[in-house]
This record gives sequence, C-alpha cells and structure tokens, in this order.
Amino acid sequence: MHFQSLVVSLLLATSVAAKGNEIESTKTVSESGQCKEMVKLNKLVELASNTTKLDAITKNNATKIAEIQAKASTASTTLKTLESNSTLMSACAVIDAQAAENDQCQETFALQRFVRFAANSTAVATATKNNATKIAKIQSEASKASTKLQTLTSNSTLQSACPAVMQKDECKMMNKLQKFVDVANNQTKLDMVAKGNTTKEAGIKAKAAKAQTKLTAMTSNATFMAACTAIEGEKTTAENGISSTNLKSAASMLKDAGAGAIGLSTILVVVVGMFAL
Ligand SMILES: *[C@@H]1O[C@H](CO)[C@@H](O)[C@H](O)[C@H]1NC(C)=O
Ligand SMILES: *[C@@H]1O[C@H](CO)[C@@H](O)[C@H](O)[C@H]1NC(C)=O
Ligand SMILES: *[C@@H]1O[C@H](CO)[C@@H](O)[C@H](O)[C@H]1NC(C)=O
Ligand SMILES: *[C@@H]1O[C@H](CO)[C@@H](O)[C@H](O)[C@H]1NC(C)=O
Ligand SMILES: *[C@@H]1O[C@H](CO)[C@@H](O)[C@H](O)[C@H]1NC(C)=O
Ligand SMILES: *[C@@H]1O[C@H](CO)[C@@H](O)[C@H](O)[C@H]1NC(C)=O
Ligand SMILES: *[C@@H]1O[C@H](CO)[C@@H](O)[C@H](O)[C@H]1NC(C)=O
Ligand SMILES: *[C@@H]1O[C@H](CO)[C@@H](O)[C@H](O)[C@H]1NC(C)=O
Ligand SMILES: *[C@@H]1O[C@H](CO)[C@@H](O)[C@H](O)[C@H]1NC(C)=O
Repeated sequence: MHFQSLVVSLLLATSVAAKGNEIESTKTVSESGQCKEMVKLNKLVELASNTTKLDAITKNNATKIAEIQAKASTASTTLKTLESNSTLMSACAVIDAQAAENDQCQETFALQRFVRFAANSTAVATATKNNATKIAKIQSEASKASTKLQTLTSNSTLQSACPAVMQKDECKMMNKLQKFVDVANNQTKLDMVAKGNTTKEAGIKAKAAKAQTKLTAMTSNATFMAACTAIEGEKTTAENGISSTNLKSAASMLKDAGAGAIGLSTILVVVVGMFAL
C-alpha cells in the first residue's frame, strides 16, 4: 500500500514535471502533444461507435454508455477542428508513424524477453515456485508470444528501425544506473534512503555494485558511448524491461522510505536503479 502510494506520487511528480517542460518547450513538443491528443480522441470516438466494445467495457451499463457517447460527441467536434489544420495533420502523420514504430519495437523487445524467460526452465521454476499450473500457463503464453514475434520480426522496415530504439533505451538505462550509483556512493543520500537500517543499506550497496559492473561494461564500449553521445539530448520515452522480482525487492526495500523525508527525485533514482538490475 505504502509503496503504491509512493509510486503514485512519483508518477504525479513526473507528470507535473513533464507538463512544466511542455509549457516552456518548443512548437514541436506541443505539436506532438496535439497529435497524441488526437490519437486518444479518435480512440474514444471509435469506442463510442462500437456497441460490442461499449457493452463489454461498461458491462451493459446504459448510464456509462451514455456518458461515453456524450464525451465522444465533444471529442468528435474537437477532432474536426484539429483535422482542418493541414499543417498539423501532415506533422502528425510523421509523428504518429514514428510513435507506432517505437511502440512496435518495444513490443518486440518485451516479447523477446518473455520468450527467453519462458525457455529458461530454471528461471520459470523460480518465478512460479514450481507450480505446474503456472508453468503451463507461461508456456501457452510463450507460444502466443512467439507467433506475435514472428509477425513483428518478419517486417523488415520495422526491424531496421529497432536497433536504434534499443540503443536509445540502453543509453537511457546507463544514465539511470549512473544516478543510482551516485546515490549509493553518497553517504548522506544513502542515510536518507536507508534511515539507519543497515540491512537496507547493504542491499542498496549490493545492487549498486551490480549497477557499477553494468555501467563499466557500457562506458568501456567506445561504440556504445559514441552512439549515446550522438543521441544525447533527444527525448526518449521508452522504458527498459523491469522484472517483477526486482520490482518486489525494490518495493520492499523502499516501502518505508517516506516520500516527505527525502527528495522524491532521490527515491525515484534508487527505485529505477534497482528495477534496472
Ligand atoms: C468492435 O469491437 C470488437 C471487439 O473489440 C471488434 O472485434 C470489432 O472488430 C469492432 N468493430 C468495428 C466495426 O470496429
Ligand atoms: C452504472 O453506472 C453509473 C455511473 O457510473 C453508476 O452510478 C451506476 O451505479 C451503474 N449501475 C449499475 C447497475 O452498475
Ligand atoms: C495549425 O497547427 C500548427 C502546428 O501545430 C500551428 O502552429 C498553427 O497555429 C495551427 N493553425 C491554426 C489555424 O490553428
Ligand atoms: C511494418 O512496420 C512499419 C513500421 O512500423 C509499418 O509502417 C508497416 O505498416 C508494417 N508493415 C506490415 C506489412 O505490417
Ligand atoms: C536462466 O535463468 C537463470 C536464473 O534466472 C540464470 O542464472 C541463467 O543464466 C539463465 N540461463 C540462460 C541460458 O539464460
Ligand atoms: C498453483 O497455481 C494455481 C494458479 O495460479 C493456483 O490456483 C494453485 O493454488 C497453485 N498451487 C499450489 C500448490 O500452490
Ligand atoms: C551528497 O548528497 C548531499 C545531499 O543531497 C549533497 O548535499 C552533497 O553535495 C552530495 N555529496 C557529493 C559528494 O556529491
Ligand atoms: C558495444 O556497443 C555496440 C553498440 O551498442 C554493440 O553493438 C556491441 O555489441 C558492444 N560491444 C561489446 C563488446 O559489448
Ligand atoms: C530493514 O530493511 C530490511 C530490508 O529492506 C527489512 O526487511 C527490515 O524489516 C528493516 N528493518 C527495520 C527495523 O525496519
């Protein structure tokens, strides 16, 4: 519970920060914001016109259906205004295609991770505590994932774009690991996070040592570093894979690190750093 509320406040903090950036930023960002808004509005309009979907989502609640349809009607008007701007429409065609490509690459990576995990019987046994029902479920999901993956990887246009997306993800991850290591190496910050709990402190330090190993491998790769420098400053939205095991361990370690006592950004750095391992 505590951790959930922490995560929620972190999300709020980041979205507030993101909004702040948007206000100050250039036309491109507001343009891409408008394109995203249009995607959302279109989805709403589409939903409102699909009775099968509406019934399923609202569980046949007529009041809810009417609410959605009223919102969709407003959305439709807004869309018409936006769509009449041809400058915006041509910008959105490019932005939306890029966003879709990025999403499909992320989906490819996630499916690849899952298929790799499902093929590792040790990892599956650990994650399921050897529960045969759960193992069977994972295998059937993995079979579906493989089929989906085949479709994605057979698209050569998509596949030629994905290495750059992966590179961006990894550069972003490197920066997160660096921030995490910096916190773990700063006793003042570490004290604030661990609050004198030496077990917790040792746990963070152990994770930070792993993070440092990854970081060293990344920074000693000149090709990798050059690629990161080249894309530096570019906005990346992709998140790297976070395993649920690490999520749980980070959650339990940080569950009593109250958001008031310590800077949210420091907690965010630690949580993200620990997730990344
Ligand atoms: C309506 O939604 C259903 C369920 O998601 C989908 O299978 C169907 O293709 C949709 N119909 C239209 C006309 O988009
Ligand atoms: C239908 O949705 C409305 C609005 O969200 C809600 O107040 C009402 O209780 C729902 N009715 C049923 C039967 O679930
Ligand atoms: C059309 O969209 C562009 C890009 O978002 C914007 O700069 C311009 O002001 C818009 N034009 C009108 C008439 O709203
Ligand atoms: C392949 O991927 C590209 C980029 O995401 C997309 O524009 C195109 O429609 C896809 N082609 C097929 C056949 O799915
Ligand atoms: C399988 O998973 C285990 C435990 O997570 C890991 O130590 C091992 O390296 C993995 N094996 C392969 C081939 O990836
Ligand atoms: C195995 O997992 C299934 C499905 O999650 C669950 O219903 C069942 O109780 C579990 N069995 C054991 C022995 O834990
Ligand atoms: C360690 O963190 C504290 C508190 O945030 C900060 O004031 C200090 O400058 C940091 N020390 C180093 C060496 O970065
Ligand atoms: C170095 O980084 C490049 C680009 O990310 C990668 O293709 C290559 O495999 C890396 N080399 C090593 C030794 O990890
Ligand atoms: C110290 O942290 C560990 C690991 O996060 C936790 O299991 C333990 O309950 C904590 N001890 C106290 C006294 O809070």
